[in-house]
Amino acid sequence: MKYFPVVLALLVSLVSAATLKNSPGSNQISIPAFLQTLNQLHRGPPLPPSTKRANVETRWFNQSLDNFDDTNKNVWDQRVLINEDNFVDGSPIFIYLGGEWAIDPSAITSGLWVDIAKEHNGSLVYTEHRFFGESIPITPLSTKNLKYQSVEQALADVVNVIKVLKEEDKYKESKVVISGCSYSASMAVWFKLLYPDVIVGSWASSAPLDAIVDFSDFMEIVGRAYRQLGGDYCYDLIDNATSYYEDLFQTGQGARAKELLNLCDSFDENNERDQWQIFSSIANIFAGIAQYQKPENYDLAQYCSVLRSFDDDDASALSQFVQWRLGKPECVNTRYQGTVDYYKWSKNNYDGSGLGWFYQTCRQFGWFQSSANKNHPFGSTFPATLYTDTCHDVFGSQYTSAKIEEYIQATNKKYGGKHPAVENVYMTHGGLDGWSRVGSDSAIIIPQASHCSDSGSINPTDSAALRATKERLIELVREWLA
Ligand SMILES: *[C@@H]1O[C@H](CO)[C@@H](O)[C@H](O)[C@H]1NC(C)=O
Ligand SMILES: *[C@@H]1O[C@H](CO)[C@@H](O)[C@H](O)[C@H]1NC(C)=O
Ligand SMILES: *[C@@H]1O[C@H](CO)[C@@H](O)[C@H](O)[C@H]1NC(C)=O
Repeated sequence: MKYFPVVLALLVSLVSAATLKNSPGSNQISIPAFLQTLNQLHRGPPLPPSTKRANVETRWFNQSLDNFDDTNKNVWDQRVLINEDNFVDGSPIFIYLGGEWAIDPSAITSGLWVDIAKEHNGSLVYTEHRFFGESIPITPLSTKNLKYQSVEQALADVVNVIKVLKEEDKYKESKVVISGCSYSASMAVWFKLLYPDVIVGSWASSAPLDAIVDFSDFMEIVGRAYRQLGGDYCYDLIDNATSYYEDLFQTGQGARAKELLNLCDSFDENNERDQWQIFSSIANIFAGIAQYQKPENYDLAQYCSVLRSFDDDDASALSQFVQWRLGKPECVNTRYQGTVDYYKWSKNNYDGSGLGWFYQTCRQFGWFQSSANKNHPFGSTFPATLYTDTCHDVFGSQYTSAKIEEYIQATNKKYGGKHPAVENVYMTHGGLDGWSRVGSDSAIIIPQASHCSDSGSINPTDSAALRATKERLIELVREWLA
């Protein structure tokens, strides 16, 4: 595909969506660029806010700090959002599971799940996952306290929400179905595995299931998305600019790379881990864009066009694009120690740093997106060690690579990796979503689509395959609830 000239209007429309979210109220210490890019890969499901007025009630559920230890009497309040606008007594409960993000009404006021709930006069319930948003069971977020952060605890919280709801007369006869996107889709699968009788079915959109430390295939799919949807020129530009910077570091010209990339003074061009962080951040920026691209909107073609428009020189274009996506900071902060310090600081200053999720990756899942697979344009400078070292430096010396490997294998042993033994679970993936590489082999693949791409209502712009996937889900939910 040839790149087309950028019109100013396009740049303007992308600029508004461009700035990666900086942490709210973090006046003491600013979030490192690396974490900005990482958090972008772990934001909530991309749904448009509902155009219709909906009554969404916030309720707080009394939960045990430790669902598996009766002697531990500590409790906390879990936030749950409920939309009963279409509910008729005794009709089903449609739960949308919160993942590693703060919940907001969008997922229970618009989208395919809401449409299906309406068909069944269902109540819509959105549960916030412990240690995210306003559902913080214990502070500070020390390693000791984070032992209460696990998918098992979070699933047991959901079981408890269902139990409490079903004590209410109007819900006594209600069947329950659940769904989720990304990690919360993994939860939707594992919930059915652990509690098969509590729900009648579940829909898992883009569920990573196979825990792995070195998730080296992810970037290959991201690269493929840029080649297929952005064009060869775009892939080659990223590839060439990345190699250019890698060469500078490898030939003793790191100071030059630092200058061209506008890295902050504290960046040490001779520190290997600092180098890992800048290359990982660049890759994450492209991955974050690809993760929620819609082929019918030509998102990647447009972003590639913007990238090219910054400069005819590849290296300069890449640098400017990265800074633009980071919200044009004074300088780009990708110092390894800066990230460790920020995570440590956030143990006492909970501010949506993603610490609770980072802990889960170290303790249960891995999924560290490395450059180890060579078939992508993002170079070869960010090993999974970047992440395992960070686990060690943030959570303590017990987090050795061997221990992390052991934790991750335990997860697969428990849930069956890519082959979970579940029934009445509908799994879908986007064909150009890196996460599909750790998804179930039996999932439906939607060609060219990205992460959780089937969350929206059926739309005339949907591809035939996307539409068919959604219609299949509608059918299945009817069968589950029959
Ligand atoms: C919450 O749970 C605790 C301990 O089980 C109990 O003492 C307390 O009464 C509960 N509070 C509410 C509002 O249900
Ligand atoms: C939904 O509620 C309406 C109004 O009470 C009722 O007529 C309809 O049959 C219900 N639909 C289902 C699927 O229960
Ligand atoms: C690769 O990038 C460098 C640095 O921007 C540039 O000088 C060179 O011309 C590029 N090579 C190609 C083949 O575009």
